[in-house]
Amino acid sequence: MNNKLVWAPVDLKQSALRILDSGTADGVWIRDLQSDLEPDEAQHTYVGIDIEGSYFPSGPPKNTSYHVQDINGTYPAEWKGSFDLIHQRLTLCVSGGVESTSDAVRKQVELLKPGGWIQYVEVQGWTADSDGRGWKDFTTCVAELVASVGSSVTHIDRAKGWLLDLGLVDVEEVVLEGNFGTRDDKELETLAKKSALLTAQSILGVAQTFPQELLSLPLARIPQIKTDLEKEMNTEPTNAHWHYKVVWGKKPQ
Ligand SMILES: C[S@@+](CC[C@H](N)C(=O)[O-])C[C@H]1O[C@@H](n2cnc3c(N)ncnc32)[C@H](O)[C@@H]1O
Repeated sequence: MNNKLVWAPVDLKQSALRILDSGTADGVWIRDLQSDLEPDEAQHTYVGIDIEGSYFPSGPPKNTSYHVQDINGTYPAEWKGSFDLIHQRLTLCVSGGVESTSDAVRKQVELLKPGGWIQYVEVQGWTADSDGRGWKDFTTCVAELVASVGSSVTHIDRAKGWLLDLGLVDVEEVVLEGNFGTRDDKELETLAKKSALLTAQSILGVAQTFPQELLSLPLARIPQIKTDLEKEMNTEPTNAHWHYKVVWGKKPQ
């Protein structure tokens, strides 16, 4: 997003850091960060956690480890106060209700060293007025899928308050626009469209199995959304936008 992986003002070049990627899935953020750094700067220790271990990459480098860990569960005691940077992307929105999610945030803050930073990156249920009907309806389905597991795409709007309540300092947030449609960089445009269509395919496939009462759109509309979206993605200009919110803060020294 905006080609930036770390918003918290952490000096990644100064010294070897212990970095946690929570909800790591296949470790893509860790790998992206590692490839952004010069080899002699990448002396950090990387830990990826996820509730689902089958996505973990095999044969990670020796400074990188992956662990099955529920963010709502109990962390290894030795992890407490051990991380310089905790990153979590697109996972706050699937960690349950407000209470369990704020508790998950509290437990993550406990994992930070004094002076350590935490950052959350989440999608918001926002589309631009100019976006196509298929894109807008797909976005509605994303929010309703998240709601169906008792969670919410609005947890990120509480994250700044949670971090402040936990005594973090230098807490900031920023809203970024993600563009999955027409852009100058045609290679990136093709990639973004492909990834949006793939995500839509799996999310709409799940939505189609839902009982009507979990959806605000008529169930019969769901298969049509995919067709509309494919048409929109092949029409110039393509308008397909999301907002992402990034929130970060520092544990006091
Ligand atoms: C939408 S994916 C995001 C993956 C990755 N962070 C990224 O940005 O590509 C959400 C991830 O959170 C994981 N997850 C969901 N609930 C979790 C929990 N309670 N504890 C740990 N991981 C969880 C899922 O298994 C999934 O890999």
